[in-house]
Amino acid sequence: MADAYEYVKIERKDEIAVVIVNRPEKLNALNAATVAELDRAFHELAVDDGVRVVIVTGAGEKAFVAGADIGELARMGPIGGVRISRLGQDAFRYLESMSKPVIAAVNGYALGGGLELALACHVRLASENARFGLPEVKLGIIPGYGGTVRLPRIVGRGRALELILTGEMIDAAEAHRIGLANRVVPQVELMTEAEALAKSMAANGPIALALAIESVNRAQGTTLDDALTLESNLFGLLASTEDMREGMQAFLEKRKAEFKGR
Ligand code: COA
Repeated sequence: MADAYEYVKIERKDEIAVVIVNRPEKLNALNAATVAELDRAFHELAVDDGVRVVIVTGAGEKAFVAGADIGELARMGPIGGVRISRLGQDAFRYLESMSKPVIAAVNGYALGGGLELALACHVRLASENARFGLPEVKLGIIPGYGGTVRLPRIVGRGRALELILTGEMIDAAEAHRIGLANRVVPQVELMTEAEALAKSMAANGPIALALAIESVNRAQGTTLDDALTLESNLFGLLASTEDMREGMQAFLEKRKAEFKGR
């Protein structure tokens, strides 16, 4: 059996897995061990056929994740700095590339590495008390887990640079206004909303979900023409699946589709 987790908890509800960063006394700050455990959890869930959608959240009422662990960062040298950055980048890149939808349920502070974790998720829900920021420059560093790369793609370059260069936080309403949070809900409703969203995704064909994520992800790193060609090929590939026949047959028979992931 795999080693137990110390800083991460995984809860399962039917086809939904909830990954909880679980260091509430440190506002779920990401020490190296937590990043490694998250990476392990993502790899396990990616190949678990019982899981169709993943939700990522933080333990406690105050924080999603308040950043990388500053106590650890304070001791790093240049080579260690590159390594720390790459480990976080690799874990979050894996998450972003996962063939199952990943929803961030941002339940408080999402700062530094915490915001970068949320940025790597496919969809972000925020509670009303959520706060978002990349405060790294206040510590004399820059975001190192993909923040300078993903934030401009999501909110645009000007807004991203304002957040990165001031290091100031924004509240949930502002995050929603600039497209960083898909939706804002009262804190008590956050997990119910996240689960309802996860269920509405989990009801769809899993291969279609996987290829939709792949098409959107790959489109960002390539030319318009190559992205459109890939989309056509993935679209065609889906015509080889039992799920496509089932989805269309169910529509014609006015019943709910039963997708099998085949
Ligand atoms: N790394 C390490 N420890 C952290 C942390 C981080 N990123 N963020 C919070 N903590 C710890 C605090 O040191 C404190 O630990 P202690 O009780 O052992 O002293 C505990 O979590 C609670 O945080 P505290 O600062 O007392 O809570 P607060 O409500 O006064 O402030 C924040 C909340 C989020 C504004 C504040 O904790 C903060 O600014 N954190 C750092 C954010 C940051 O710069 N992140 C980017 C890192 S690259």
